[in-house]
Amino acid sequence: MLILYLLTIFLIIYAIFFIKQFYNIVFKGYAPLISTKKKILNKAISNIKINDGNVIYELGCGKADFLKLIETKNLKVKLIGVENLLIPSVLLKLQLFFKHSKIKVIQDDFFKINLEEADIIYCFLNNETMKKLGKKFLNECKKETQIISHKFPILDFKPEKVLREYGSKIYYYKI
Ligand SMILES: C[S@@+](CC[C@H](N)C(=O)[O-])C[C@H]1O[C@@H](n2cnc3c(N)ncnc32)[C@H](O)[C@@H]1O
Repeated sequence: MLILYLLTIFLIIYAIFFIKQFYNIVFKGYAPLISTKKKILNKAISNIKINDGNVIYELGCGKADFLKLIETKNLKVKLIGVENLLIPSVLLKLQLFFKHSKIKVIQDDFFKINLEEADIIYCFLNNETMKKLGKKFLNECKKETQIISHKFPILDFKPEKVLREYGSKIYYYKI
C-alpha cells in the first residue's frame, strides 16, 4: 500500500513537471531542460578568464553543471544559478545542500533578475530567448562582462570567438 502511495506521489510530481515544461516551451517560448554535455562544458570553461571575486551566473541552470564544474576548481568566486522550474530547482537545492556546495540557486524567471553584478554569464537556451537576453545584457551588464552561449548566438552581437566542440558551437561575447 505504501509503495502505491509513493508511486502515485512520484507520478503526480512527474506529471506536474512535464505539464509546466510543456506550458513554458509552447506558450512562453522557454528552452527545455536539456543539459550541456560534459565535453562542451570543459571546453567552454577552459576558454574563460576567471578572476578572484568574479560573480558567475548560469541562466536557466537546470542541474547547474556549468557552476558545479567551476566549483571543483576551488576559485574565490560567487556562483549563482537561476532556474524557473520548481521541481528541478528544489532537487538541485537539496543536492547542493548535502554536498555543502556554495552555489546559490534562485528559483525565478531570469528576466526578473538584475545582472549588473555579473562578470561571467553562461547560457544554453534558444534563439528567441538569446535575442531578448541581448537587450537585457546591454541594459544591465557592466563593460567587460563575459557571456558564453552554447549553441545559440545573440542576434546582432559580434562574438569575440566561436569554438567548435562535439558538433556544437560555443559563442564568446564581451559587453
Ligand atoms: C537547455 S536547459 C540548460 C540547462 C543547463 N544550463 C545546462 O546547460 O546544462 C535550459 C534551462 O533553462 C530554463 N529556463 C528557460 N527559460 C528560463 C527563464 N526565463 N528563467 C529561468 N529559467 C529558464 C529551463 O527550465 C531549462 O532548465
